[in-house]
This record gives sequence, C-alpha cells and structure tokens, in this order.
Amino acid sequence: MLEAPLHRQAKFITFEGGEGVGKSTQVKRLLANLQTRSIKAVRTREPGGTPKAEAIRSFILQGRSESWGAGAEAVLFAAARLDHVNQLVAPHLRSGTWVLSDRFHDSTRAYQGLTGGVGDKLIGALETLALDGHTPDLTILLDMDPEIAFRRVAQRAVEDGLVLTGDRFEKEDLEWHKRLREGFLAIAAANPDRCIVISADQNEAALEAAIWHAVQTRFPELLQERSA
Ligand code: TYD
Repeated sequence: MLEAPLHRQAKFITFEGGEGVGKSTQVKRLLANLQTRSIKAVRTREPGGTPKAEAIRSFILQGRSESWGAGAEAVLFAAARLDHVNQLVAPHLRSGTWVLSDRFHDSTRAYQGLTGGVGDKLIGALETLALDGHTPDLTILLDMDPEIAFRRVAQRAVEDGLVLTGDRFEKEDLEWHKRLREGFLAIAAANPDRCIVISADQNEAALEAAIWHAVQTRFPELLQERSA
C-alpha cells in the first residue's frame, strides 16, 4: 500500500502542566490555527474525551477515589486513557486528523507518580497498556510558578463571580504544586525529543505565538506550504 503523502500524516500533540497555566485556552487557539490552514484537527481532554472516560473523570474529580490511594487512581486514569485512545485518538489519527489533547499520560506520571509516590514500575506498565504505541509526537509543557498560577485562578474567579471550591487535585497545598512542577520539568528533561517547555507566564497572545512557533519548528514539512 502507498504511504499517505507527508502533509496528510496526522500528528498527536499533548498539552501538560500544573493547575491554572491556561492549557485549555491554548489548546483551542492551536486548534483554530491548524484549522485556518485547512488542517483537519480535533481537541480532546484527559481524563475524559469519550463517554466512558468522562464517567471515570467525574468519579475521580469528585474525590470518590481519593481514599483508595494514588496507585488505584493511576489505574483509573489509565482505564479512562485506554478507552480514549481506542475510541478517539487512534481512529482520528488513522483518518488523517490531528489530535490535540489537554493532558495525557505525562499527567499520570507527574501527579500520581512523581508527586503522588506511585512507583515507576506501575506507571510504566500502565503507560504501555493504555497508550498501545500512541506516544504523542509533541508534548507542550506550559510551565509556571504555582504561586503565580494560583493568583491567576483566584483573579479569574473573582472576575467571573465564582466561589472557588477546588476539585480533587486543586485542593492540594502550594508545596505539593511546587513538587508537581518539578515533576513535569523532570519528565520534559528526560524526553527532549518529544517535549518542549514554554513559559506560561506571558499573555495569551504571546503564548499562542510561542506555541505556534514550536509546532511549526517541530513539523516544518507539514506546515510550510500552508503558512498564512
Ligand atoms: P481539570 O479540571 O481538567 O484540570 P486542569 O484544568 O488543570 O487540566 O482536572 C483534571 C485533574 O486531574 C487535574 O487536577 C489533573 C488531574 N490528573 C491526574 O491527576 N492524572 C492524570 O493522569 C490526568 C490526566 C489528570
């Protein structure tokens, strides 16, 4: 069978980072930037993305698995991921559609593994099972001092008239979030071919431009002919 033309080979891009770094906004902006150039793309999130994975998401984020421990939660995240990969990520990539995911397997490694204390053996086994070879082509780590990120989240809540309650992980203290940040940075350092670290401590437009530059740099052959 003939290989698909290079410009049709869809890419899998994941966004990672701590709480309040602005991932969701940037996933939407990258999606728009790709679609403007007629590149077929979808956005999704973890935990979630499919009905079964969304059910697991609400179970965990309501705190119902908290007392089971980080190991059991890692297994639950992996169960959600297995369905997400099988039902959404893999079929889209096969059909030539780029997939942009707000969080993926690095979140399990950072939250449950490096911060939550779950050993590498279990984390590695879960990754092998749930990813089934679908390692992201590019992972964008949005990095920010958690103190700044927390202030931003609080500010946004005031502007939107919301009362912050905090879900399962947002409730953890500042020291915990500092360890989480170090965990993500360690993952990026260990996977330099896949991960790029971008400071999220800049305005939304500047961050969007930095991400777009990173995507073009990583996949120049795909985007050259379509540059706006
Ligand atoms: P979400 O509201 O999507 O948070 P955010 O906007 O920060 O992405 O909630 C997802 C939460 O689940 C978030 O606190 C990170 C956590 N999480 C894990 O602990 N392990 C995982 O494998 C994944 C995918 C998420």
